[in-house]
Amino acid sequence: MDRIIIEGRNKLSGSVRISGSKNAALPIIASTILTAKACVLTNVPMLNDVLVMNKLLKTVGGEAEFSGSSLFIHNKSISNFKAPYDLVKTMRASVYVMGALLGRYREAEVALPGGCVIGERPINLHLQGFEKLGAKINIEHGYIRAKAKKLKGAEINLDVVSVGATANIIMAATLAEGKTVLRNAASEPHIVDLANFLNKLGARITGQGTKVIEIRGVSELKGGKYAITPDYIEAGTFLVAAGITGSKITLENSPVKDLEIILNKLTEAGCKIKISGSKITAQGIERPNPANIETQPYPGFPTDMQAQWSALMALSSGASIINETIWEKRFMHIPELNRMGANISVKGNTAVVEGVAGLSGAPVMVSDLRAGASLVLAGLRAKGTTEISRIYHLDRGYEQIEKKFEALGARIKRVK
Ligand code: EPZ
Repeated sequence: MDRIIIEGRNKLSGSVRISGSKNAALPIIASTILTAKACVLTNVPMLNDVLVMNKLLKTVGGEAEFSGSSLFIHNKSISNFKAPYDLVKTMRASVYVMGALLGRYREAEVALPGGCVIGERPINLHLQGFEKLGAKINIEHGYIRAKAKKLKGAEINLDVVSVGATANIIMAATLAEGKTVLRNAASEPHIVDLANFLNKLGARITGQGTKVIEIRGVSELKGGKYAITPDYIEAGTFLVAAGITGSKITLENSPVKDLEIILNKLTEAGCKIKISGSKITAQGIERPNPANIETQPYPGFPTDMQAQWSALMALSSGASIINETIWEKRFMHIPELNRMGANISVKGNTAVVEGVAGLSGAPVMVSDLRAGASLVLAGLRAKGTTEISRIYHLDRGYEQIEKKFEALGARIKRVK
């Protein structure tokens, strides 16, 4: 299995280009099932999760080919409505094909995704939404089947803000008869991107980016070309890299407006931030100031940046508190950071970080994508060698992470 080796403690400098957003690309690729016409997606990140979604599209009978960072898709006719267990178990976002298949064909069968290292990850809200639109749901032999004679717009309230349920319900409602009003919807940038893409194809979605989304059903969608939005979590990760190494880094192609809370927190931590168009330059300091965070749905502090923030705070000049409110088990990176000399204790969903002056390189293991990012960041700051194993988690969501850091001057390499 590949590993990443980092010799830490040298300054980074220069520019890095932010790739397309994983969490926007996944539902957008799935949503192309809603149209029989050709679509071209550009700025698609070449990530393992994106490749799995591509494979899933082909499994149900779609056509999808990459050319560089463009993805050419033509789902003339889908021949099977089943997302098999061997793909769903490798990527939970496979469940997005359910809303799209149900929307276009009124039928879908998807393996029930299991638990996950960061938390239980139920999909009850997705299924309740489908039922409200008129689908009958059956769960048998580890598969969920959804079937409807017709889908009819409905009033749907989500009990919990859910990105996945919001995306899936938008997809199922796009070709339904009449109007759907989705309340307590997720307003993450990737939800806005999905809605904007579908609108480009002729959908009638309004309110994306707010808590109430309205979808007026249309009878069919056309094709179209669309550029995936840049990844605000990847951008946040590189900004924290400047913070943790006390370096100056410029991000190009960054989604500035999506980064408001992250930029505010970095400023509180002592980083100097300069914005010019879609360029952000961050200059870190030797010991960041302590800055508490609590993860919340957008526009709150993203759970997908919590692990990276924990690494930054590990080096701060005081004590800070990190509250994780979205995923009940998302502190798996903390024992690994402590192995590198951090002083963090976890009680329930709270981590108390006592900042230390330095970290020391150590062999560490990645438990999930963002935990992996936090260990890379810690390795860049640590004295000596950090050897990170199970980096396949990183390849799911960061495009060429070691190449990008190497280009910024990090001593980082991937070994087989
Ligand atoms: C998405 O997961 C992201 N994945 C996750 O990113 C991210 O951590 C998460 O949203 C929160 O922002 C993709 O976009 C592919 P949710 P999702 O449904 O949609 C509860 C990363 O690192 N809930 O918004 O699965 C759930 O338990 C990843 O890139 C229900 O109770 O998350 C959680 O507490 C990991 N019932 C909360 O809602 C449901 O039916 C938010 O989950 C669905 C969710």
